Parts: sequence; C-alpha cells; structure tokens
Amino acid sequence: MSEFAGKTVVVSGAYGGVGVAVVSKLLASGANVCATDLESVVAGRAPSGNSRLVAVGGDVTRSADVDRIFAAAEDAFGEVDILISNAGYIVSKSVHDTSEEEWDQVLNANAKSLFLMARRALPSMMRRKSGAIVATGSISSVVGLPEQAAYCAAKGALLQLVRQMAVDYAARNIRVNAVGAGSINTPFLTRYLDGMDDPSAAEMAIKAAHPLGRWAEPSEIADAICYLASPASSFITGQILMADGGYSAR
Ligand SMILES: NC(=O)c1ccc[n+]([C@@H]2O[C@H](COP(=O)([O-])OP(=O)(O)OC[C@H]3O[C@@H](n4cnc5c(N)ncnc54)[C@H](O)[C@@H]3O)[C@@H](O)[C@H]2O)c1
Repeated sequence: MSEFAGKTVVVSGAYGGVGVAVVSKLLASGANVCATDLESVVAGRAPSGNSRLVAVGGDVTRSADVDRIFAAAEDAFGEVDILISNAGYIVSKSVHDTSEEEWDQVLNANAKSLFLMARRALPSMMRRKSGAIVATGSISSVVGLPEQAAYCAAKGALLQLVRQMAVDYAARNIRVNAVGAGSINTPFLTRYLDGMDDPSAAEMAIKAAHPLGRWAEPSEIADAICYLASPASSFITGQILMADGGYSAR
C-alpha cells in the first residue's frame, strides 16, 4: 500500500498503545513519520533503522518543544502534510476530588497540545492549500462519564476545537477531524483499571458497556485515524468518527 507515499506526518503519543499502531500503519503505507512522545519515553528506544522514521522527544504541552519537534520533521522530510494529535493523559476523578494541577495537566495534555501542534502545522498547510489534522478523541468527547471530570472537559474541548478549525480552514483545503475512541487495550487503560477497587469487575463492566462486548485493539483505532488522514475521507471535515464498539449508539 502506498496511500501515504511521500507524505510527512507528525504523530504525538507515538510510543503509546495507539501511537505505535498508527506509526506502523503509516510506515507500511509509505509515509515519512516524525514520531514524538515524552523525552523519557523516546530516550529508551533503540534507533529503528528505518530511514522514513525519526523519533523526537518532547512535551507537546510546551510550544518550544512543539517547535523543535516540527523543525526535526521538516529537516528530515520537508513540510508537514498530516498531523496526528494523539497524546493524551487521564486523571480519573470527580470535580470535588480534582486538584488544580490535575485539571491543568489533563486539559493541557489532551486539548492544549492539539492547539499548539495545529498552530505550528497550519501556516505551511495554508500556504500549500493542503493538509489533514486528526485528533484522538474519546467517548468522553461526547458523553459524561463517571469520575472523568477533567478528561471529559478536555476531550470535549478537543472536539470543539476540531469543529472550529474545520470551519476556519476548509477554504484552504485543510481537513480537521477526530476519532471518538471507545476503550482500547493499551497501557492507558491498564493504568486506569489498576486505579479501580476491583480491576476485573471494572474490566467486565467496561466491556459490557460497549455493545460489541469488548474493548478495541489499538490497530482498530489506528485504522480509523489513518482513514481520516487519508484521501479516502476527502469530503469529511469537522467530524468525530466514533470508533467505540457502539457505546455512543445506545
Ligand atoms: N486507552 C483507552 O482506553 C482510550 C480511550 C479513548 C481515548 N483514548 C485516547 O487515545 C490516545 C492514545 O492513548 P493510548 O491509549 O495509546 O494511551 P498510552 O498511555 O498508551 O499513550 C499515550 C501517549 O501519550 C504520551 N503523552 C502524554 N502526555 C504527553 C505530553 N504532554 N507530551 C508528549 N507525549 C505525551 C504518553 O507518554 C504516551 O506514550 C490518547 O489521546 C487517549 O486519551 C484512549
């Protein structure tokens, strides 16, 4: 497959569960990929040996780091055609238990990161009248979930920014979309379950809440993300594609 041949793609959260699946699919489809994740995560990785992949450490909630990440992508492959804003972080608490610091961390990791990365990506896309931005949202973008105060607010903000940017930049042929992921079998979910009083009961409850009766594998979410990044979705912008096993259809 060469769907993304010659395209330069920046992927954040690239070494988490979904990120790894997205990067692998993009590479298999011919893309040049700048894979970025926290410095501490990227530092532990051996070089890939793939000339179409660069790994760059950085915190996507900081504009200086975002600038550095994009500069590395441009140095390696040229201007960025596609942004996959996938980094995310959850604190599972209700409002009365959430500290100001936790609120800021969650809002920044999920929503400010999209703002900063899109702000850096857009001028070049506007100049070239071409681009695609895909953000990893959640069922928490569209429904309230128990004990996810900051996370629901953050993923809701992400979705509204996606819609807003879709309207602002459509005339320059830049599409902006989100994937509304249900629960996914990644370290993110494992950490969430580990914080529960009864993780196996929580696992069963989560699976039962999805009409398909299971949670997603990372590759299933990567497929939805790559679809929205690809020409196959050329008339789709400002949308959230719910890849949630039917959760939000009830
Ligand atoms: N796993 C789930 O059940 C689930 C469900 C719905 C949505 N999501 C979303 O999917 C996306 C991918 O999550 P995942 O399941 O692969 O989780 P993950 O924890 O495996 O990966 C997330 C990655 O984001 C990185 N990251 C977090 N904050 C960052 C920052 N400030 N700067 C740079 N990198 C940062 C982490 O280091 C990590 O590698 C996230 O946006 C998450 O909110 C996950």
